[in-house]
Amino acid sequence: MNTITQTMTYEHNVCDNLFAQAELLVSQAKWEQAIANVESFIQAMEQHFSREENVLFPTFEARTGNSMGPTQIMRMEHTQMRQLFAEMQQSVVQHNSDDYLGQAETLLMLMRQHNAKEEQILYPMTDSAFGAERSTVLQHLKDHIHQA
Ligand SMILES: [Fe+2]
Repeated sequence: MNTITQTMTYEHNVCDNLFAQAELLVSQAKWEQAIANVESFIQAMEQHFSREENVLFPTFEARTGNSMGPTQIMRMEHTQMRQLFAEMQQSVVQHNSDDYLGQAETLLMLMRQHNAKEEQILYPMTDSAFGAERSTVLQHLKDHIHQA
């Protein structure tokens, strides 16, 4: 994992797996496990968002002098996804699988588009923008811990 693209894409995959597991548990009405799993999924997403919002995006913006472009769109999409996290958390606590599965479907669509833009466009842009500093930024990213 020598590039930002590889490292952050791997995190997307980890989150995708937690998301799929949570959906399965909800559809099986295994509520206790489902609640714990939704919690793990949201925590993994928040950790990932926090790395982007507090380390990757600001460093990229400072480097390129552009804070109104792709990073701003990514931040707005994070806000939309956080709204769905809150709704999904409520649905799972209420054992409401219909609501949960509907919200999860909406989130999946958003997440797919968002992650594809990052993996195909933004992360490669950051890898080339940082050049020789890439390994330092990568270390900062890995060291960053989300404070809930
Ligand atoms: Fe991301």
